[in-house]
Amino acid sequence: MDAPLQTPPAVSTPPADAFVIQGVTRSFGRNDVLRDLNLSIGAGQTVAVIGPSGAGKTTLFRLLSAFLFPTAGRVVSLGHDTQRLRGRRLRALRRDIGVIYQNDNLVPHLRVVHNVLMGRLGHWWLPQALFSLFWPLQLEHARAALREVEIEDKLWAMPGELSGGQQQRVAIARLLVQNPRAILADEPVSQLDVRLGREVIGLLIRVARKGGATLLVNLHTLDLLRGNFERVIALREGRVFFDGRPEDLDAEKLRELYGAEYRDLHVSEWLPGAAP
Ligand SMILES: Nc1ncnc2c1ncn2[C@@H]1O[C@H](COP(=O)(O)OP(=O)(O)O)[C@@H](O)[C@H]1O
Ligand SMILES: [Mg+2]
Repeated sequence: MDAPLQTPPAVSTPPADAFVIQGVTRSFGRNDVLRDLNLSIGAGQTVAVIGPSGAGKTTLFRLLSAFLFPTAGRVVSLGHDTQRLRGRRLRALRRDIGVIYQNDNLVPHLRVVHNVLMGRLGHWWLPQALFSLFWPLQLEHARAALREVEIEDKLWAMPGELSGGQQQRVAIARLLVQNPRAILADEPVSQLDVRLGREVIGLLIRVARKGGATLLVNLHTLDLLRGNFERVIALREGRVFFDGRPEDLDAEKLRELYGAEYRDLHVSEWLPGAAP
């Protein structure tokens, strides 16, 4: 008789949180930009952050990436209370978080290949970036990342020769090389048309999934929410206005969230039944 099959016990550890925000207020002078905010973002989650301009989205991203610190409360990024980190450990945390902006992601006087390999270093130390090119292995690394974002032929181009969409692809290739544990993208597609925006968001999600990274994207193009993000956090006046699935955001809520900016979103063009 056959020995009973040994099945390993199912190990299910709950996913740790990538980010925890506890009672965070951030003020600039007398302006409370974030107000007693509480949030946690599970490791590996794909989250969109939305809200009208001035709501505090960029401030939130800067707190999470430890380039800014709370006035009150605690920000725990990848297991570290950001305010307690200094020097080498602070730099190590920042290296673990890939950041991408609306534009100006690339160093203009460096070729694409150098820009991509910057991700390997995690900081902007030029001599080493140039030196790294003497290793064919590094070159292959850059080439593979560019292949992944479908612009391998731009390896030796200067950033100024590229379109906005291509520049964002280079920035994503750099993220691939950096292999961060979290990616924070602050309006990465605001300068692109809808089609290119969709492609860039798709790439970001693919890159995040591939590396198992948590992804937060600050987004203005709301028709990119559905099918791409599992969770939407809407901020208004420094507070959480909505936190849930994209499917549960209706036109009524969006109108309340965006106020005067609502008309510019053209919600009726992509949300069935929404009044213009
Ligand atoms: N470094 C700063 N100094 C002073 N005020 C700031 C600073 N950064 C942001 N703010 C203010 O915080 C508010 C929210 O800004 P921000 O986080 O950039 O909003 P969002 O990204 O949602 O548009 C704005 O009123 C802005 O003027
Ligand atoms: Mg902003």
